[in-house]
Amino acid sequence: MSLLEDLEALRQRALGELEAARFLAEVEQVRIDYLGRKGQLTLLLRSMGQLPPEERPAAGKRANEVRAQLETAIARRQTELAAQEASSRLEEERLDVTLPGRHWRLGSRHPVEIVLEEARASLVGMGFEVLDGGPEVETFRYNFGMLNYPEDHPALDEQDTFYLSPEVLLRTQTSGMQVRTMESRQPPLKVAVPGRCYRREVVTATHSHTFHQVEGFQVDRNVTFGDLQGVLAQFARDLFGPDTKVRFRPDFFPFTEPSAEYAVTCTFCQGAGCRICKDSGWMELGGCGMIHPHVLAGVGYDTETWNGYAFGLGVDRIAQVRYGINDIRLLAENDMQFLEQF
Ligand code: FA5
Repeated sequence: MSLLEDLEALRQRALGELEAARFLAEVEQVRIDYLGRKGQLTLLLRSMGQLPPEERPAAGKRANEVRAQLETAIARRQTELAAQEASSRLEEERLDVTLPGRHWRLGSRHPVEIVLEEARASLVGMGFEVLDGGPEVETFRYNFGMLNYPEDHPALDEQDTFYLSPEVLLRTQTSGMQVRTMESRQPPLKVAVPGRCYRREVVTATHSHTFHQVEGFQVDRNVTFGDLQGVLAQFARDLFGPDTKVRFRPDFFPFTEPSAEYAVTCTFCQGAGCRICKDSGWMELGGCGMIHPHVLAGVGYDTETWNGYAFGLGVDRIAQVRYGINDIRLLAENDMQFLEQF
């Protein structure tokens, strides 16, 4: 067979294979098989040296035509297949916008969470650094010991709790975070810590076995009870409105001296007395006082230099006052009809 015939056979084979190629990768394989360095056309051109000299020009010319034709055909097939692949991918990934959407049931924020957020905002506005919760499973040492509770003191009975072992318990108050924070830092400090607490309680409309508190405290030079009153008065105005009044009455906590109970005017009757505040006109929100020097000395602070105040507020109680929720148990029941109101 002459070289020209070989060329023609090669041309037709290549064109046939190109036509049969279904994927870009197959076109590339054809290109390599025929035009590559070791491709069939390349090898054929190399064998031209064996032709008689008079036949070489015609054969060379034809070979170049075949090469050009194959190159064009390859490029065309590549364009075709690229377009086909793109459109079939579009088809596969097609989005049916007429399908009915899936309905997402949107939740609403829990009233305790709303109040916590407002409490955080108020305290941050007054320069408090808000820390994350701290451990709910706490040791006797932090929940009571370092807070100046003498062993067997009656104050322990007021805060009975769930014990995991004689030393480990579910914390009854966030006050342990005062000690934990002071132990790991040096004054001046102005810190607030919200968190969940537990008590062994007879559950009533205002007392639950599980509830939330926000602890706040400041340790600095020459802190006064007036500073504490100012902070809690502003807190009450931020959460309940500008006309809210606050009341401080003497109380007892082992870790503060003097100690006080903190109440705000009832938001339902504006202090006139109603069912919700049991006709007192006031809502008790928490306890507070000047941090006992034993607590400061216990964490190694020099009590000649540093003093401070602390307060602990009941968040669920605030939510009750805020939204007129007459039973604290509603806050933990996950009743959608109740929760959707907020
Ligand atoms: C304390 O827990 C002290 N740690 C507060 C404190 C902090 C005093 C810093 C001084 C300095 P008390 O037991 O009164 O105090 O609780 C504070 C508030 O937590 C209560 O006023 C109430 O709002 C809330 N609280 C207490 N027990 C419960 C309960 N069982 N259910 C719901 N809220 C509660």
